[in-house]
Amino acid sequence: MQPVAQEKKVYRRIVILTGAGISAESGLGTFRCQDGLWENHTIEDVATPEGYARDPQLVERFYNDRWLQLQSEAIQPNPAHEALARLGAEFSGQLLLVTQNVDDLHERSGAFAVHHMHGELNRGRCPNSSQTFVLRAPFGADNCCTCCIPARRLRPDIVWFGEIPMGMDRIHAALEACDLFIAIGTSGTVYPAAGFVDIARHHGADTVEVNLDKTPHSQFAAHLIGKASDTVPVLVSAILAGESLN
Ligand code: APR
Repeated sequence: MQPVAQEKKVYRRIVILTGAGISAESGLGTFRCQDGLWENHTIEDVATPEGYARDPQLVERFYNDRWLQLQSEAIQPNPAHEALARLGAEFSGQLLLVTQNVDDLHERSGAFAVHHMHGELNRGRCPNSSQTFVLRAPFGADNCCTCCIPARRLRPDIVWFGEIPMGMDRIHAALEACDLFIAIGTSGTVYPAAGFVDIARHHGADTVEVNLDKTPHSQFAAHLIGKASDTVPVLVSAILAGESLN
């Protein structure tokens, strides 16, 4: 891992974007690695509205398996999630933690106000009212909303390909105002998240990527190469010590 620069700089507004890589060391698979989550499925079948309309049972099975895995004791936040929760506590109101992940490991590590731009595995959505509900049982015929008559079968509260991620106005405003943008464990292949670094840079922010490798076409000014669980705690300590990252 590269050392963090020693120049002093106090950051005032931070945006952090996390992807599947931050949860990899907690035991959750990433999407685009060998044996990745897409390996046995086509994106069109399990992650599009058309796929759901075609075969809802297949889509429900895919998300039920992931939901059940998340309930297992074996899946716990790792030091990267914990370090970000510490940073959030110090930067209360000045840090926006945006995640593409649908797991709840940020929340379980104590982070608050996590912005799930791709939705949440733990929730189901009424297709009629768009109201969301905490899932108490897997998706299926028995899992319906309580907001409509007749009750509608809940769909996963996941933003599928072709759908608009949640809260983009809020994210854009934060990216334009931040002085530090950090992306952790994301391949930078899926827009709009892949374009966040350009917006932040354009508005003058320092930009840092944390990944096992430098991502292709990367526009970041600084790179911390290594496992998130090793690099993120170091990065957070550097920010809290008032060190410049670019
Ligand atoms: N520490 C840091 N980075 C890691 C680690 C780790 N331990 N393990 C893997 N990574 C990196 C990989 O090198 C890769 O660049 O995490 C990245 C994971 O990339 P993807 O699998 O593409 O996941 P992500 O970027 O979150 O995908 C974005 O695509 O499929 C959709 O909606 C889905 O939210 C997802 C979006």
